[in-house]
Amino acid sequence: MEKIAIYPGSFDPITNGHEDIIRRGASLFPKIVVAVLENTRKETLFSSAERIEIIREIFKDRPGIEVKAFQGLLVEFARKQGARILIRGLRAVSDFEYEFQMALMNRNLEAEVETLFMMPSAKYAFLSSSLVKEVFRLGGSVEGLVPPFVEARLREKYRRQ
Ligand code: PNS
Repeated sequence: MEKIAIYPGSFDPITNGHEDIIRRGASLFPKIVVAVLENTRKETLFSSAERIEIIREIFKDRPGIEVKAFQGLLVEFARKQGARILIRGLRAVSDFEYEFQMALMNRNLEAEVETLFMMPSAKYAFLSSSLVKEVFRLGGSVEGLVPPFVEARLREKYRRQ
């Protein structure tokens, strides 16, 4: 059976930390499905269609990396994709409690599903989509923190040169 891993998230927008985890995951699994949460409870800057389009553009030369929208339970989505592995990035201890709860809740819902935690490069350990948006909105530079395509899309959103 083909080993498929799911990498779920809001990706509003994708950062270099996410990209780093996806590339690390793709070196372990022949197929990674980047699962973009469609209707988050939080208001998003980019629509789900935009978030998906951006990630597809970044990985357009990587056939083993697919990008799909999902809504509802993550374990249901994984089942439909024929996947048992969920990848999550862990940056710091502060991520741990939430991730631990989610991993065990997902296992409670679907015993077959395993969550695999991966560490991004240390240079992205402080990075988050929400900080990127805040810094950009307040006029700071996000160079080196997000792919150049994301920076361009942020500029368009905020109508900045
Ligand atoms: O990038 P994020 O916002 O940290 O990703 C969170 C995500 C999308 C992985 C999480 O909210 C999720 O899995 N949502 C789907 C709903 C679900 O399955 N909930 C029960 C699992 S605890």
